[in-house]
Amino acid sequence: MQAPLPPDVLQRLLSASLAARAHAHTPYSHYAVGAAVLDEHGAIHAGCNVENAAYPQGWCAEATALGAMLMAGGKRAEAVLVSGPGPDVITPCGGCRQKLREFGDDDLLVIAADPSGVKQTWTLGELLPASFGPGHLTHNQTKPT
Ligand code: THU
Repeated sequence: MQAPLPPDVLQRLLSASLAARAHAHTPYSHYAVGAAVLDEHGAIHAGCNVENAAYPQGWCAEATALGAMLMAGGKRAEAVLVSGPGPDVITPCGGCRQKLREFGDDDLLVIAADPSGVKQTWTLGELLPASFGPGHLTHNQTKPT
């Protein structure tokens, strides 16, 4: 069971995510997204979605934020706050749930927000049950049988 985030940490995640959202490159969908990841050191890493004229080459805000976390030396994600435009509550896409799973466990907090504030919170286990993760590969280094 994951403890709720301290209010000041939640506020910092929200600010970082909304600030990142302002940098989104979304000339095609016009759907700007920000993401802010809290790592195991308590540091926050933010990113935005980056679209591309060759549509499938674009990527999500969560991917940018996870890359920033790795580049800063973070290895584990404790929480992520994803912000969209509202009014519908944003939820991470399926691909991003799997990307988060690479660096977080079932208890990773996934927080949805928009410019008016936090809207909903889940755990990654709720959003991606029975997930396939790094642990599936660590004991299986031999050739397929
Ligand atoms: N998007 C994200 O950045 N994260 C998500 O989890 C959902 C979708 C972006 C991708 C695309 O640039 C835009 O939102 C519309 O799908």
